[in-house]
Amino acid sequence: MANSNPKLLCFISVLIVLQVHLCNGQNAVKGGYWFPDSGVTIQNINSNLFTHLFCAFADLDSTTYTVTISSANSAPFSQFTQTVQIKNPSVRTLLSIGGGNSDDAAFSAMASQASRRKSFIDSSITLARNNGFHGLDLDWEYPGSDSDMTNLGTLLDEWRSAVAAEATRSGKPALLLTAAVQGYSPRVDGTYSYPYAAISRSLDWINVMTYDFYSPDWYTSFTNCHAGLYDPSGEAAGSTGIMGWRNAGVPAKKLALGLPFYGYAWRLVNSNNHGIRSPANGPAAPGNGAMTFAEIRNFISQNSNAVAVYNSTRVCNYVYSGTTWIGYDAVQSISAKVSYAKQNGLLGYFAWQLGGDSNWMLSQQASSTWGA
Ligand SMILES: *[C@@H]1O[C@H](CO)[C@@H](O)[C@H](O)[C@H]1NC(C)=O
Repeated sequence: MANSNPKLLCFISVLIVLQVHLCNGQNAVKGGYWFPDSGVTIQNINSNLFTHLFCAFADLDSTTYTVTISSANSAPFSQFTQTVQIKNPSVRTLLSIGGGNSDDAAFSAMASQASRRKSFIDSSITLARNNGFHGLDLDWEYPGSDSDMTNLGTLLDEWRSAVAAEATRSGKPALLLTAAVQGYSPRVDGTYSYPYAAISRSLDWINVMTYDFYSPDWYTSFTNCHAGLYDPSGEAAGSTGIMGWRNAGVPAKKLALGLPFYGYAWRLVNSNNHGIRSPANGPAAPGNGAMTFAEIRNFISQNSNAVAVYNSTRVCNYVYSGTTWIGYDAVQSISAKVSYAKQNGLLGYFAWQLGGDSNWMLSQQASSTWGA
């Protein structure tokens, strides 16, 4: 370096600083959640189709308020990042905490006291670093009171400060911070407003869960699209939820649109009455009637009289055969939703969940519709 040109070196270092700065902001998110026993192994995830992968779920200990990984999950979770980076070295990974089956009372108790929040925050950062994740994702489903929402805002601001301090100490890029939030409205139970300002300033983005608006275990008497994008007649819809979040002041660039890789099967009352909002009689599949996209494709190939329909008004695919009616997302609805996300300036999209896809058909469609 003895005879190099100092002006040139300066110019190059300015370029490097500029590049580092540009690389820190999120440009686009093509996300997807994975969990164990979901139908795809970590090795088989086609990580080329994603920018961010969420590993679900770490747990909140309701006594110590620390974040833990169960012993069954500790080996796979610790190998998650290095494994998905074999196919795509630039993919980023986040450890997702909580989920739909977790104890929301424990999250409420944790967020309510400073010392408990500190236990949660410090243990989450340690867990992410020790397991090679690039970020953390909070899936508290759901904060359910005004004080929960206030405490959530405090938690997010403290989490951001702690993550920034840890980055300074360690010299590593700051961990990403995200959360999964309610999709049909930014008010839980139509009442409790999320802490919009704290979300906007302290999270990199939120995964808006624009699905599960209807399901045959509680919305038993009619068929419906559980994740329609538009609502000509006042049905719950993804675009209404996204508009709600934006009207509440959360920037479009902080929003990722949820894409369900599953649907719900209803039992029709009359097999000749098979449109959206036809009379039904509860689930036509085990449990709550949920079926993955892969299972729905099998159903279609095994039932030669199955009729598949795409309703572009609602942005919803459905298929019926005999008295079985399944509302779901297929290539057409995924494509229309990703176009909507891009045209409306959202940060991107995420899928729940990767194991539901069939030969990466939906993941591929989403990625190519969004583009490079
Ligand atoms: C799409 O669904 C709506 C009801 O949500 C219905 O009014 C409309 O007729 C459907 N369109 C087609 C082409 O089936």
